[in-house]
Amino acid sequence: MSDGGRVLDDMGALAAADPHGARDVLAAFPAQCRAAVTIETRALAPMKRPRVVVVAGMGGSAAAGDLVAACAAERVEVPVIVHRGYGLPSVAWDDALVVAVSYSGNSAEVLSAVETARTRRLPLVIVTAGGALAAFAKQASVPYALVPEGIMPRMALGYLFFPLARVLRALDLDVVSGEEIEEALGIVDALALELAPERPVADNEAKRLALAIGARWPAVYGGPVTGPVAYRWKTDFEENAKTFGLAGALPEMNHNTIEAWRTTLARDLHLVLLRDDREEPEIGRRFAVLQDLVGATAGGVSEVRTRGRSVLARLLSLTYLGQWASVYLAVLRGVDPWVVPTLDEMKRRLHDG
Ligand code: F6R
Repeated sequence: MSDGGRVLDDMGALAAADPHGARDVLAAFPAQCRAAVTIETRALAPMKRPRVVVVAGMGGSAAAGDLVAACAAERVEVPVIVHRGYGLPSVAWDDALVVAVSYSGNSAEVLSAVETARTRRLPLVIVTAGGALAAFAKQASVPYALVPEGIMPRMALGYLFFPLARVLRALDLDVVSGEEIEEALGIVDALALELAPERPVADNEAKRLALAIGARWPAVYGGPVTGPVAYRWKTDFEENAKTFGLAGALPEMNHNTIEAWRTTLARDLHLVLLRDDREEPEIGRRFAVLQDLVGATAGGVSEVRTRGRSVLARLLSLTYLGQWASVYLAVLRGVDPWVVPTLDEMKRRLHDG
């Protein structure tokens, strides 16, 4: 076995490389999801069905919005839009519901979105673990879901997604059914065992992926349904493994990015294809032709698959795999997967300025 493989199977080496215990938080993800399903939104009064839902969030918190939007796209006629930025888009006007999601409760962009929602007198719901958002919700009697604090926002996907989905269900927007939640939880349970540190490389897809990527840059592509998860993989690689990542989706990348893949630059990239068992045949053909065309020029190619029937199970299973792969890649690269010092410094400077 390679040196990298030995490190990933050595519990002592893993503990030394991951001193804050990112692996423990990931191992507890099924429990996080189960706890999250029961979190209620305080003071949520009946309200009119919105014309549009705008989820305001950044980074790991916005990812919960992406997951809700993907589920909603298949099920409800009301669009769910994820807004990553200051203020609110102009679609957030009459009959819009704004859900502000920030794990820390302190993201400046989300606080600004809340201010705009107040100015426009829009119905507002908050999902947070504390900070300024929780204080504001209490003081202004805004409905809010308070989730447990103490972990990294990007590792709190369960805590952020399930209360958000529950708020929409309470408004008669059935983005995910109880049965679909059960299916997703069962799959996440199984994956927690399959991807755990104790599972050796030979039998652990996330470790094998990290080893396959090695020193290359991951370039992750999904299809029409898994595209948002490709973006989530990229950000997990960036934040956890501190490496550049690329993300995109088919068919669009077939119309532009594909050109770059047949240049010598592609040698430094590792192509990761997020396949969906339920993808349309034409998307399957596009993945096959893509591999044919660029497989030889890419530094390497890996293909992974969704699990389950519902959109939630398929996207959550894939996201969870990516989280593990990015933490194992961090270990291989000798970086602490937990800390994000540059991101923190950015926030600190803006705050101090
Ligand atoms: C850090 C992380 C970031 C944050 C983002 C927004 O672990 O995942 O992407 O999610 O900086 O912060 P919050 O989520 O606290 O609003």
